[in-house]
Amino acid sequence: MKTISVGIIGKGNIGSELYKRTLSKKWKVEWIMGSKGFFKGLSNDKIGETEDYPSRVKGLDLVFLAIPTLDNGKTAFNYIQTSLDAGVPIVTCEKGALSNYYSKLEEAIRDGKIGYSATVGGGSRLLRYLEERVGPQVEEIHAVVNGTLNYIFDGLSRGRSLGEVVEEAKKLGYAEPRAENLLEVINEEATGDVPMKTSILFNSCNLVSERMAARDIQVQRIEMNQLKKLEREASSRRYIVSITRDSNNEEDVIWGFKYSIGDWYISAGFKHIGSNSLFRELVPSGVNNAVLISEGEFGRDGSYVLTGPGAGAAPTSLSMLIDAEKILL
Ligand SMILES: NC(=O)c1ccc[n+]([C@@H]2O[C@H](COP(=O)([O-])OP(=O)(O)OC[C@H]3O[C@@H](n4cnc5c(N)ncnc54)[C@H](OP(=O)(O)O)[C@@H]3O)[C@@H](O)[C@H]2O)c1
Repeated sequence: MKTISVGIIGKGNIGSELYKRTLSKKWKVEWIMGSKGFFKGLSNDKIGETEDYPSRVKGLDLVFLAIPTLDNGKTAFNYIQTSLDAGVPIVTCEKGALSNYYSKLEEAIRDGKIGYSATVGGGSRLLRYLEERVGPQVEEIHAVVNGTLNYIFDGLSRGRSLGEVVEEAKKLGYAEPRAENLLEVINEEATGDVPMKTSILFNSCNLVSERMAARDIQVQRIEMNQLKKLEREASSRRYIVSITRDSNNEEDVIWGFKYSIGDWYISAGFKHIGSNSLFRELVPSGVNNAVLISEGEFGRDGSYVLTGPGAGAAPTSLSMLIDAEKILL
């Protein structure tokens, strides 16, 4: 059987985990690329410049993309496009490209050339679940898509301090790579990560023919006074994204954003768990993510919940490998 040869863009938390797991599958990693060029494995043996990407991607079976979101995802989009132009499929966990350029990538997605399950829901594969399940019978979708914030709020509701639990989330590799201080970590997740995931999740549900872009979502930064209030009320609140046919004006929510598209309304924020009976079914523990689909008017046809690990190098890279196998085999 032919050996599968791949390249990995990004040699941080996810890239290095992917490297180890890819090798253990006996696939050949031709190179790993960081911001400073191409390297042989995880070593610092430089074997080329980043500009060589169009030639280095040629002839590979697949590329993995695991870089931070830069320029709203344009950098990642360019890597994806170059790979597709060379006839090489790509599996990504970066969210900017899919959340802002979904319509440009849709044909390749339909052709099975892009794997992006790890962009939303980490290892839970909730996008695949939604694709299978969503149809005209769906009335509401609610989701917890940020494992880091769920981990922080879960910790707070168990009596831990905000500083302690945020530091732990960073150490465990759950938090977005660039954030430094406490408020930055929360904002990076709430105002950066969730709008991107919301856009990818909504588009992949295919509820309307229009496509949304994360950059069109108007979102304010969380201020220190709001964070203090959230800290006090942590045991009764979680960051929930809702997609409904109603405009949801009555919600008990701290901070957040709203967006409407076609006849659907999207609302996100730190919602009171007691304010909607569906939230109690939805909210997962720890770093997990979850999605709840409510079917039939007033949910009379039931609600369906999927839960799984939402962040972390192991579940994320495993999900990317599942995508890769589906594409290749
Ligand atoms: N951590 C998680 O649980 C999780 C879950 C799902 C998705 N993600 C996503 O996965 C991505 C990577 O996260 P991470 O935690 O692995 O980040 P990370 O540890 O900061 O690593 C990022 C890597 O990307 C490289 N890089 C940066 N800019 C680049 C460029 N222009 N060209 C090529 N390489 C470049 C960096 O190169 P240098 O080594 O030279 O700095 C670094 O090796 C992010 O988009 C994140 O949102 C993470």
